[in-house]
Amino acid sequence: MSEDALNYLLSRRSAKFVQAPGPNDNELARMLQTAMSAPDHGKLRPWRFTLIRGDAIPRLADMAISGIKAAGLPLAPEKEANTRSWLAKVPLLIAVACKLDHSNTKIPEHERMLATGAAVSNILNAAHMMGYAAFWSTGLGTYVDEVAGGLGFDSLDYRFMGYIAVGTPISAVQDQPRPDYREFVSEWQGA
Ligand SMILES: Cc1cc2nc3c(=O)[nH]c(=O)nc-3n(C[C@H](O)[C@H](O)[C@H](O)COP(=O)(O)O)c2cc1C
Repeated sequence: MSEDALNYLLSRRSAKFVQAPGPNDNELARMLQTAMSAPDHGKLRPWRFTLIRGDAIPRLADMAISGIKAAGLPLAPEKEANTRSWLAKVPLLIAVACKLDHSNTKIPEHERMLATGAAVSNILNAAHMMGYAAFWSTGLGTYVDEVAGGLGFDSLDYRFMGYIAVGTPISAVQDQPRPDYREFVSEWQGA
């Protein structure tokens, strides 16, 4: 058993505010490859990832903000400014979607979503193990069809599941108090 690996899993925590450097190409390749080891009923590989980097990040901010406004959702000017200044520093966003293969009726949609979530979890853990911080967000117009569609995830064929921001934490990542697992675990011993 690798104590180091376990300690990494135990110490993972999210950090929203990240800056460059983000992972280099080799690190990013390994990070994304960990997603391929997620549990996956029927080997459907439903997860899809779209990388958004460099100048594409402010363009995504423009696209998401105009999509949110076009959908008639409230967006206070200070919230818009905060979102833009957060994204201005983020070196890498990974947009996450679950592909719905309508020809497969055996594996229910929620199992595909769970597999995609497990794939994201592997990426979050890999980022942490490589010394980066990451944060899963369903902000930035995740639930606005026009935004998901703008990223290529039309709502007929995909469930858009948000963005993973990855980079170097801007300030020291605070330890997260974690609950005792015993609050969430019981044992069933038969009727
Ligand atoms: C599917 C999903 C979507 C999330 N979306 C947001 C979000 O939009 N905004 C936010 O502040 N936190 C969001 N979070 C929570 C953060 O990613 C993070 O998990 C949380 O801040 C707790 O930090 P921890 O991961 O260190 O426990 C989301 C988490 C999940 C699993």
